[in-house]
Amino acid sequence: MCGIVGYVGHRSACDVVVNGLRRLEYRGYDSAGIAVPDGDRVAVAKKAGKIKNLDALLAEAPLPAAGTGIGHTRWATHGAPNDTNAHPHTSADGRLALVHNGIVENWAVLKADLATAGLVPTSETDTEIAALLLGQAIDAGADLPTAMRQVCQQLEGAFTIVATDAQQPGIVVAARRNSPLVVGVGDGENFVASDVAAFIEHTREAIELGQDQVVTITADGVQVTDFAGAPAEVRPYHVDWDLSAAEKGGYDWFMRKEIHDQPEALANTLLGRHDANGRLTLDELRISEAELRLIDKIVIIACGTSFYAGMVAKYAIEHWTRIPCEVELASEFRYRDPIVGPRTLVVTISQSGETADTLMGIRYAREQGARVLAICNTNGSTIPRESDAVIYTHAGPEIGVASTKGFLTQLVACYLLGLFLAQVRNTRYDEEIAAVINELEEMPAKVQQMLDDHDQVLELAAEFAEAESVLFLGRHVGFPVALEGALKLKELAYIHAEGFAAGELKHGPIALIEDGLPVFVVVPPRGRDLIHDKVISNIAEIRARGARTIVLAEEGDDEVDAYADVCVRLPMVSTLLQPVLATVPLQLFACELATRKGHDVDQPRNLAKSVTVE
Ligand code: M6R
Repeated sequence: MCGIVGYVGHRSACDVVVNGLRRLEYRGYDSAGIAVPDGDRVAVAKKAGKIKNLDALLAEAPLPAAGTGIGHTRWATHGAPNDTNAHPHTSADGRLALVHNGIVENWAVLKADLATAGLVPTSETDTEIAALLLGQAIDAGADLPTAMRQVCQQLEGAFTIVATDAQQPGIVVAARRNSPLVVGVGDGENFVASDVAAFIEHTREAIELGQDQVVTITADGVQVTDFAGAPAEVRPYHVDWDLSAAEKGGYDWFMRKEIHDQPEALANTLLGRHDANGRLTLDELRISEAELRLIDKIVIIACGTSFYAGMVAKYAIEHWTRIPCEVELASEFRYRDPIVGPRTLVVTISQSGETADTLMGIRYAREQGARVLAICNTNGSTIPRESDAVIYTHAGPEIGVASTKGFLTQLVACYLLGLFLAQVRNTRYDEEIAAVINELEEMPAKVQQMLDDHDQVLELAAEFAEAESVLFLGRHVGFPVALEGALKLKELAYIHAEGFAAGELKHGPIALIEDGLPVFVVVPPRGRDLIHDKVISNIAEIRARGARTIVLAEEGDDEVDAYADVCVRLPMVSTLLQPVLATVPLQLFACELATRKGHDVDQPRNLAKSVTVE
């Protein structure tokens, strides 16, 4: 949550920082602000609301030219989203400015200490406490990096802090604990930011920072230490996508672009992961095959959409490997004394790699001796760094707040993991594994087919634009798809939407059915699946009570015709893989319906892309 940028170099810091903020706006859009050195003090411009409000302010009152600057786009935690609480915050004498992502948990104690020294914040934020402390340390004679280290040692909680001091021009200092921060290494210029999107137009060379590190950037150098001042080890890496991936490419929304990116994203996730005979090699797996043979339980932890990917994974992994597999919301996991130990494989799924609930779950699991494998889309992020192994999803940057290609590629990574475990533990014949891999390889084309035939879904969105409530039903792996369809609609269209296990309906939720209520139903493929017929019965039950049924069923499944008011056809695929296809129309439906309602699809209200607070 919150996007942070810092810059030192030969360009206009104001332009670089504000453009960087624009690319990070998906992380929070309650307010935005920027600070640059201006003589002995910092000049600050900040404004509640989206970056366009800051743009207007800067157009009226431009900041002085400078080669050093910091900026922030906020997702409010402490204090309302207004101009005063917007970052940057300054020291009491206005010589330095600071921006922050995270929560300083001991801010109240620190505030009381500052009051005894006559330092009283003007905002309601925890951040200003850090700014005042930093000012105090500088007044006591420390240089900016030293002062930052001193302050970090006093702060508790999660924080990334970036600061600039007008009286030490040409440097920006940043620190991180439990919140994201990467360094961009340019030619005669350097950057710090919450993620690489902020500087991707200037450089693709990045440095991943570790926990509890302080980085000082100048135009020509990057220096990293721990909080005690000792030089720290860092990992440089090359970003494997470019500016075009972080732009809308002609679409009205990032989300719509990302839905259409899915065939390529799936192909990239599969690339290089198996040989011609379907034998899998997951090369980022730093857990030995011998260890994987000893695993007696898998626990998947994740949040939101990633949790639903985990639900699908449970069906696939248990079916292919016969290893008991639990799925749990990361925010619940560590608070209930879960049973995990050295023979447990904890699998975490996270698009951003920064979700605080998931990260805390990982730390807890590792303390219990479990091995942790992350499925993640973001190179350089915290979750893979703190895991024993990682399978990257290679979806490219996902900027729309609602996850789309992140989800589909997570599904594929989960399937690959399940098949790999089956291969290592000999729970499936090689030919069976190869057959599923062949089917996975067909998925990009099948998803493309769904995208090419999307007019029907767009018409549905027009028909239901005024609906007050929409239900989604599914069974088996169709159940998490139903949950995902409902989440997309809630977060984008702000209408009541619920996903249910179709078989549970008659245990309560069927009371919600009334005349004309739109209900999407995911129908599993026919073949030998008993659940197909059960779901048909469930559709009959709700239709008899007046529901308008939108049925997602495979091509040629004419048994559904009698019960479907509308039938959206899915290319044929085996049951376990069907979520990859069935999710696509639900994504398109939510995106289109929210567009028709005039909502900001990429930046839905109250949300932020990367949830870095618990
Ligand atoms: O980055 P992560 O996958 O860890 O994020 C988890 C959730 O916050 C995320 O999936 C969220 O639910 C999305 N807004 C869903 O579209």
